Amino acid sequence: MKILVTGGAGFIASHTNVELLNAGYEVVVLDNLLNSSPESVRRVEKLTGKKITFYQEDLLHEEAVCKIFEAEGFDGVIHFAGRKAVGESCQIPLAYFDNNITGTLNLLKAMERYDVKKLVFSSSATVYGQPETVPIREDFPLSVSNPYGRTKLMIEDMLRDIYQSDHSWDIALLRYFNPIGAHESGEIGEDPNGIPNNLLPYVAKVAAGQLECIQVFGNDYDTPDGTGVRDYIHVVDLALGHIKALEKLNTHPGLVTYNLGTGVGYSVLDVIHNFEKACGKKLPYRITGRRPGDIATCYADPAKAKKELGWEARWGIEKMCQDAWRWQSNHPNGYRS
Ligand code: WQD
Repeated sequence: MKILVTGGAGFIASHTNVELLNAGYEVVVLDNLLNSSPESVRRVEKLTGKKITFYQEDLLHEEAVCKIFEAEGFDGVIHFAGRKAVGESCQIPLAYFDNNITGTLNLLKAMERYDVKKLVFSSSATVYGQPETVPIREDFPLSVSNPYGRTKLMIEDMLRDIYQSDHSWDIALLRYFNPIGAHESGEIGEDPNGIPNNLLPYVAKVAAGQLECIQVFGNDYDTPDGTGVRDYIHVVDLALGHIKALEKLNTHPGLVTYNLGTGVGYSVLDVIHNFEKACGKKLPYRITGRRPGDIATCYADPAKAKKELGWEARWGIEKMCQDAWRWQSNHPNGYRS
Protein backbone atom coordinates (compact mmCIF):
# COMPACT_ATOMS: atom_id res chain seq x y z
CA MET A 1 0.00 0.00 0.00
CA LYS A 2 1.21 3.51 -0.89
CA ILE A 3 0.73 6.19 1.78
CA LEU A 4 1.07 9.96 1.38
CA VAL A 5 2.62 11.47 4.52
CA THR A 6 2.08 15.23 4.59
CA GLY A 7 4.58 17.12 6.73
CA GLY A 8 6.60 13.94 6.34
CA ALA A 9 9.98 15.52 7.14
CA GLY A 10 8.82 16.54 10.62
CA PHE A 11 9.43 15.08 14.08
CA ILE A 12 6.49 12.68 14.53
CA ALA A 13 6.17 12.02 10.79
CA SER A 14 9.81 10.92 10.38
CA HIS A 15 9.42 8.41 13.23
CA THR A 16 6.13 7.22 11.69
CA ASN A 17 7.84 6.80 8.30
CA VAL A 18 10.37 4.42 9.88
CA GLU A 19 7.54 2.22 11.17
CA LEU A 20 5.57 2.49 7.89
CA LEU A 21 8.59 1.34 5.85
CA ASN A 22 9.40 -1.41 8.35
CA ALA A 23 5.79 -2.58 8.07
CA GLY A 24 6.10 -2.81 4.27
CA TYR A 25 4.22 0.33 3.24
CA GLU A 26 5.42 2.50 0.35
CA VAL A 27 5.94 6.07 1.63
CA VAL A 28 5.57 9.33 -0.30
CA VAL A 29 6.49 12.48 1.66
CA LEU A 30 5.14 15.94 0.92
CA ASP A 31 6.73 18.72 2.97
CA ASN A 32 7.31 22.47 2.39
CA LEU A 33 10.45 22.29 4.61
CA LEU A 34 9.38 25.52 6.38
CA ASN A 35 9.93 23.87 9.78
CA SER A 36 11.82 20.67 8.89
CA SER A 37 14.87 19.36 7.02
CA PRO A 38 15.23 17.03 4.00
CA GLU A 39 18.05 15.41 5.98
CA SER A 40 15.44 13.75 8.19
CA VAL A 41 14.06 11.97 5.08
CA ARG A 42 17.55 10.78 4.15
CA ARG A 43 18.16 9.53 7.71
CA VAL A 44 14.92 7.50 7.63
CA GLU A 45 15.98 5.94 4.31
CA LYS A 46 19.35 5.04 5.86
CA LEU A 47 17.75 3.59 9.01
CA THR A 48 15.34 1.37 7.05
CA GLY A 49 17.34 0.69 3.88
CA LYS A 50 14.27 1.72 1.90
CA LYS A 51 13.52 4.58 -0.48
CA ILE A 52 11.07 7.43 0.11
CA THR A 53 9.59 9.48 -2.74
CA PHE A 54 9.96 13.10 -1.61
CA TYR A 55 8.11 16.16 -2.93
CA GLN A 56 9.14 19.57 -1.62
CA GLU A 57 5.72 21.07 -2.02
CA ASP A 58 3.13 23.07 -0.11
CA LEU A 59 -0.49 22.03 0.47
CA LEU A 60 -1.40 25.65 -0.34
CA HIS A 61 -0.50 24.91 -3.99
CA GLU A 62 -3.75 23.12 -4.90
CA GLU A 63 -2.83 22.22 -8.48
CA ALA A 64 0.59 20.86 -7.50
CA VAL A 65 -1.06 18.67 -4.87
CA CYS A 66 -3.49 17.30 -7.48
CA LYS A 67 -0.60 16.56 -9.85
CA ILE A 68 1.08 14.50 -7.11
CA PHE A 69 -2.15 12.57 -6.49
CA GLU A 70 -2.50 11.98 -10.24
CA ALA A 71 1.10 10.79 -10.56
CA GLU A 72 1.28 8.56 -7.48
CA GLY A 73 -2.09 6.88 -6.89
CA PHE A 74 -2.34 6.72 -3.07
CA ASP A 75 -4.12 4.12 -0.94
CA GLY A 76 -4.28 6.44 2.08
CA VAL A 77 -2.98 9.61 3.70
CA ILE A 78 -1.45 10.44 7.07
CA HIS A 79 -1.83 14.20 7.51
CA PHE A 80 0.78 15.76 9.80
CA ALA A 81 1.44 19.01 7.91
CA GLY A 82 0.61 22.14 9.88
CA ARG A 83 2.06 24.85 12.06
CA LYS A 84 1.99 23.80 15.71
CA ALA A 85 3.30 26.41 18.14
CA VAL A 86 0.59 27.61 20.53
CA GLY A 87 2.29 30.90 21.38
CA GLU A 88 3.14 31.73 17.76
CA SER A 89 -0.45 30.99 16.73
CA CYS A 90 -1.63 33.80 19.04
CA GLN A 91 0.71 36.24 17.26
CA ILE A 92 -0.04 35.21 13.65
CA PRO A 93 -3.49 33.54 13.68
CA LEU A 94 -4.12 34.25 10.00
CA ALA A 95 -0.99 32.32 8.99
CA TYR A 96 -2.18 29.40 11.12
CA PHE A 97 -5.68 29.41 9.59
CA ASP A 98 -4.25 29.69 6.09
CA ASN A 99 -1.55 27.04 6.52
CA ASN A 100 -3.54 24.57 8.59
CA ILE A 101 -7.10 25.01 7.34
CA THR A 102 -6.61 26.00 3.68
CA GLY A 103 -3.84 23.41 3.38
CA THR A 104 -6.12 20.71 4.76
CA LEU A 105 -8.98 21.80 2.49
CA ASN A 106 -6.73 21.44 -0.56
CA LEU A 107 -5.65 18.00 0.63
CA LEU A 108 -9.23 16.83 1.20
CA LYS A 109 -10.37 18.13 -2.21
CA ALA A 110 -7.54 16.23 -3.89
CA MET A 111 -8.42 13.09 -1.91
CA GLU A 112 -12.05 13.32 -3.03
CA ARG A 113 -11.08 14.08 -6.64
CA TYR A 114 -8.80 11.02 -6.83
CA ASP A 115 -11.01 8.78 -4.68
CA VAL A 116 -8.52 8.39 -1.81
CA LYS A 117 -10.80 8.01 1.20
CA LYS A 118 -8.56 6.69 3.98
CA LEU A 119 -7.18 9.43 6.26
CA VAL A 120 -5.28 9.44 9.55
CA PHE A 121 -5.31 12.95 11.02
CA SER A 122 -2.77 14.32 13.48
CA SER A 123 -5.00 15.91 16.10
CA SER A 124 -4.09 16.94 19.62
CA ALA A 125 -5.17 16.75 23.25
CA THR A 126 -5.32 20.51 23.01
CA VAL A 127 -8.90 20.09 21.71
CA TYR A 128 -9.97 19.17 25.26
CA GLY A 129 -9.10 22.66 26.52
CA GLN A 130 -9.18 22.78 30.35
CA PRO A 131 -10.65 19.35 31.26
CA GLU A 132 -12.89 19.19 34.34
CA THR A 133 -11.30 15.91 35.45
CA VAL A 134 -8.49 13.52 34.46
CA PRO A 135 -7.81 11.03 32.95
CA ILE A 136 -9.29 12.37 29.74
CA ARG A 137 -11.58 10.17 27.61
CA GLU A 138 -12.44 10.70 23.94
CA ASP A 139 -16.07 11.60 24.81
CA PHE A 140 -15.00 14.56 26.99
CA PRO A 141 -16.21 18.04 25.99
CA LEU A 142 -14.12 19.85 23.38
CA SER A 143 -13.03 23.47 23.71
CA VAL A 144 -10.03 25.48 22.55
CA SER A 145 -8.41 28.69 23.73
CA ASN A 146 -5.82 29.49 21.06
CA PRO A 147 -5.69 29.66 17.25
CA TYR A 148 -3.50 26.55 16.99
CA GLY A 149 -5.96 24.47 18.99
CA ARG A 150 -8.83 26.02 17.04
CA THR A 151 -7.35 24.79 13.74
CA LYS A 152 -7.15 21.25 15.16
CA LEU A 153 -10.78 21.36 16.32
CA MET A 154 -11.97 22.98 13.08
CA ILE A 155 -10.31 20.24 11.04
CA GLU A 156 -11.84 17.56 13.27
CA ASP A 157 -15.27 19.17 12.73
CA MET A 158 -14.70 19.36 8.95
CA LEU A 159 -13.81 15.65 8.92
CA ARG A 160 -16.89 14.75 10.98
CA ASP A 161 -19.07 16.68 8.50
CA ILE A 162 -17.38 15.04 5.50
CA TYR A 163 -17.92 11.60 6.99
CA GLN A 164 -21.58 12.38 7.75
CA SER A 165 -22.08 13.38 4.10
CA ASP A 166 -20.21 10.42 2.61
CA HIS A 167 -19.75 7.19 4.54
CA SER A 168 -17.27 5.88 1.99
CA TRP A 169 -14.58 7.76 3.97
CA ASP A 170 -12.59 5.98 6.69
CA ILE A 171 -11.02 8.52 9.05
CA ALA A 172 -8.95 8.14 12.25
CA LEU A 173 -8.56 11.22 14.46
CA LEU A 174 -5.51 10.68 16.67
CA ARG A 175 -5.31 13.04 19.66
CA TYR A 176 -1.67 13.20 20.76
CA PHE A 177 -0.71 14.11 24.29
CA ASN A 178 2.92 15.22 24.72
CA PRO A 179 5.21 13.44 22.24
CA ILE A 180 8.90 13.41 23.29
CA GLY A 181 12.01 11.27 22.88
CA ALA A 182 13.68 9.98 19.70
CA HIS A 183 14.43 6.84 17.72
CA GLU A 184 16.89 4.68 19.73
CA SER A 185 19.51 5.04 16.97
CA GLY A 186 19.93 8.72 17.90
CA GLU A 187 19.79 9.54 14.19
CA ILE A 188 16.36 11.20 14.04
CA GLY A 189 14.63 13.36 16.63
CA GLU A 190 12.98 16.65 17.50
CA ASP A 191 14.72 19.62 15.88
CA PRO A 192 12.75 22.79 16.69
CA ASN A 193 13.78 26.08 15.06
CA GLY A 194 15.26 28.63 17.48
CA ILE A 195 14.54 28.55 21.24
CA PRO A 196 12.25 25.59 21.96
CA ASN A 197 8.76 26.38 23.29
CA ASN A 198 8.25 22.88 24.64
CA LEU A 199 9.78 21.52 27.84
CA LEU A 200 11.75 18.49 26.68
CA PRO A 201 13.74 20.05 23.82
CA TYR A 202 14.49 23.03 26.09
CA VAL A 203 15.79 20.73 28.87
CA ALA A 204 17.88 18.84 26.29
CA LYS A 205 19.54 22.07 25.12
CA VAL A 206 20.32 23.08 28.71
CA ALA A 207 21.89 19.64 29.23
CA ALA A 208 23.93 20.20 26.07
CA GLY A 209 25.10 23.59 27.36
CA GLN A 210 23.38 25.45 24.52
CA LEU A 211 20.93 27.17 26.91
CA GLU A 212 21.66 28.48 30.40
CA CYS A 213 18.88 27.46 32.71
CA ILE A 214 15.50 25.72 32.63
CA GLN A 215 12.58 27.98 33.53
CA VAL A 216 9.90 26.08 35.44
CA PHE A 217 6.65 27.85 34.61
CA GLY A 218 5.08 27.92 38.06
CA ASN A 219 5.17 25.58 41.07
CA ASP A 220 1.89 26.67 42.63
CA TYR A 221 -0.42 24.36 40.69
CA ASP A 222 -2.63 21.85 42.50
CA THR A 223 -0.29 18.94 41.66
CA PRO A 224 1.96 16.69 43.81
CA ASP A 225 5.02 18.96 43.51
CA GLY A 226 3.23 22.12 42.36
CA THR A 227 4.57 21.96 38.77
CA GLY A 228 2.55 21.17 35.64
CA VAL A 229 1.68 17.52 34.98
CA ARG A 230 1.50 16.13 31.44
CA ASP A 231 1.15 12.78 29.67
CA TYR A 232 4.51 12.44 27.93
CA ILE A 233 4.52 9.69 25.29
CA HIS A 234 7.53 8.22 23.47
CA VAL A 235 7.44 9.38 19.83
CA VAL A 236 8.07 5.78 18.64
CA ASP A 237 5.06 4.55 20.65
CA LEU A 238 3.09 7.34 18.99
CA ALA A 239 4.39 6.32 15.55
CA LEU A 240 3.29 2.73 16.11
CA GLY A 241 -0.17 4.03 16.99
CA HIS A 242 -0.42 5.37 13.43
CA ILE A 243 0.33 1.94 11.97
CA LYS A 244 -2.43 0.45 14.09
CA ALA A 245 -4.80 3.26 13.00
CA LEU A 246 -4.06 2.56 9.31
CA GLU A 247 -4.77 -1.15 9.87
CA LYS A 248 -8.05 -0.19 11.57
CA LEU A 249 -9.10 1.89 8.54
CA ASN A 250 -8.79 -1.22 6.37
CA THR A 251 -11.73 -2.67 8.34
CA HIS A 252 -13.93 0.25 7.20
CA PRO A 253 -14.72 1.61 10.69
CA GLY A 254 -15.96 4.99 9.38
CA LEU A 255 -14.77 7.91 11.54
CA VAL A 256 -12.94 6.85 14.74
CA THR A 257 -11.20 8.92 17.44
CA TYR A 258 -8.41 7.86 19.79
CA ASN A 259 -6.29 9.37 22.54
CA LEU A 260 -2.65 8.44 22.07
CA GLY A 261 -1.12 8.83 25.52
CA THR A 262 0.40 6.64 28.24
CA GLY A 263 -2.27 7.35 30.85
CA VAL A 264 0.51 8.42 33.23
CA GLY A 265 1.18 12.04 34.26
CA TYR A 266 4.67 13.35 34.94
CA SER A 267 5.47 16.77 36.44
CA VAL A 268 8.01 19.24 35.12
CA LEU A 269 10.34 18.32 37.99
CA ASP A 270 9.88 14.59 37.20
CA VAL A 271 11.04 15.30 33.65
CA ILE A 272 14.04 17.32 34.84
CA HIS A 273 15.11 14.64 37.34
CA ASN A 274 14.75 11.86 34.73
CA PHE A 275 16.72 13.87 32.21
CA GLU A 276 19.48 14.40 34.81
CA LYS A 277 19.70 10.61 35.19
CA ALA A 278 19.81 10.19 31.40
CA CYS A 279 22.57 12.77 30.81
CA GLY A 280 24.47 12.21 34.08
CA LYS A 281 24.48 15.93 34.94
CA LYS A 282 22.72 18.18 37.45
CA LEU A 283 20.57 20.60 35.46
CA PRO A 284 20.06 24.22 36.56
CA TYR A 285 16.47 25.42 36.83
CA ARG A 286 14.59 28.30 38.37
CA ILE A 287 10.93 28.69 39.23
CA THR A 288 9.25 31.51 37.31
CA GLY A 289 5.63 32.64 36.95
CA ARG A 290 3.01 30.51 35.25
CA ARG A 291 2.85 30.57 31.43
CA PRO A 292 -0.48 32.10 30.30
CA GLY A 293 -2.89 29.44 29.00
CA ASP A 294 -1.21 26.51 30.75
CA ILE A 295 -3.35 24.02 32.66
CA ALA A 296 -2.31 22.20 35.81
CA THR A 297 -2.84 18.58 34.83
CA CYS A 298 -3.49 16.74 31.57
CA TYR A 299 -3.22 13.01 30.94
CA ALA A 300 -5.09 10.45 28.85
CA ASP A 301 -7.35 7.51 29.47
CA PRO A 302 -5.85 5.33 26.69
CA ALA A 303 -8.28 2.41 27.17
CA LYS A 304 -10.17 2.95 23.88
CA ALA A 305 -7.05 2.72 21.72
CA LYS A 306 -5.98 -0.40 23.61
CA LYS A 307 -9.38 -2.04 23.11
CA GLU A 308 -10.07 -1.01 19.51
CA LEU A 309 -6.56 -0.68 18.02
CA GLY A 310 -4.73 -3.23 20.12
CA TRP A 311 -2.24 -0.42 20.83
CA GLU A 312 -0.70 0.85 24.04
CA ALA A 313 2.39 2.85 24.88
CA ARG A 314 5.26 0.62 26.03
CA TRP A 315 7.85 3.04 27.31
CA GLY A 316 8.13 5.32 30.36
CA ILE A 317 9.82 8.61 31.09
CA GLU A 318 13.26 7.07 31.68
CA LYS A 319 13.57 5.70 28.14
CA MET A 320 12.01 8.85 26.66
CA CYS A 321 14.75 10.92 28.32
CA GLN A 322 17.53 8.44 27.46
CA ASP A 323 16.57 8.41 23.77
CA ALA A 324 16.10 12.19 23.67
CA TRP A 325 19.55 12.70 25.20
CA ARG A 326 21.20 10.31 22.71
CA TRP A 327 19.72 12.32 19.81
CA GLN A 328 20.74 15.65 21.40
CA SER A 329 24.31 14.52 22.14
CA ASN A 330 24.79 12.75 18.77
CA HIS A 331 23.51 15.74 16.81
CA PRO A 332 23.91 18.95 18.91
CA ASN A 333 22.62 21.06 16.03
CA GLY A 334 19.91 18.68 14.96
CA TYR A 335 19.82 18.10 11.21
CA ARG A 336 22.05 21.12 10.62
CA SER A 337 25.13 19.38 12.02
C1 WQD B 1 4.77 20.99 29.25
C2 WQD B 1 4.86 21.43 30.70
C3 WQD B 1 4.66 23.81 30.97
C4 WQD B 1 8.41 24.75 28.83
C5 WQD B 1 2.08 21.73 23.96
C6 WQD B 1 0.94 22.10 23.07
C7 WQD B 1 0.18 20.86 22.69
C8 WQD B 1 1.13 19.84 22.09
C9 WQD B 1 2.29 19.54 23.02
C10 WQD B 1 0.91 19.98 19.72
C11 WQD B 1 3.86 22.52 31.05
C12 WQD B 1 6.05 23.34 31.38
C13 WQD B 1 7.31 24.12 29.39
C14 WQD B 1 9.37 25.38 29.68
C15 WQD B 1 8.09 24.70 31.61
N1 WQD B 1 1.60 20.27 20.83
N2 WQD B 1 7.17 24.08 30.76
N3 WQD B 1 9.16 25.33 31.04
O1 WQD B 1 2.05 23.05 26.73
O2 WQD B 1 1.66 20.67 27.56
O3 WQD B 1 1.57 21.15 25.13
O4 WQD B 1 2.93 20.81 23.31
O5 WQD B 1 -0.07 19.33 19.59
O6 WQD B 1 -0.80 21.21 21.77
O7 WQD B 1 0.07 22.93 23.82
O8 WQD B 1 3.75 21.21 26.30
O9 WQD B 1 6.20 21.08 26.60
O10 WQD B 1 5.14 23.35 26.24
O11 WQD B 1 4.81 22.17 28.42
O12 WQD B 1 7.93 24.66 32.84
O13 WQD B 1 10.38 25.97 29.22
O14 WQD B 1 6.15 22.01 30.91
O15 WQD B 1 4.17 24.79 31.87
O16 WQD B 1 3.44 22.29 32.41
P1 WQD B 1 2.22 21.59 26.54
P2 WQD B 1 5.05 22.00 26.83
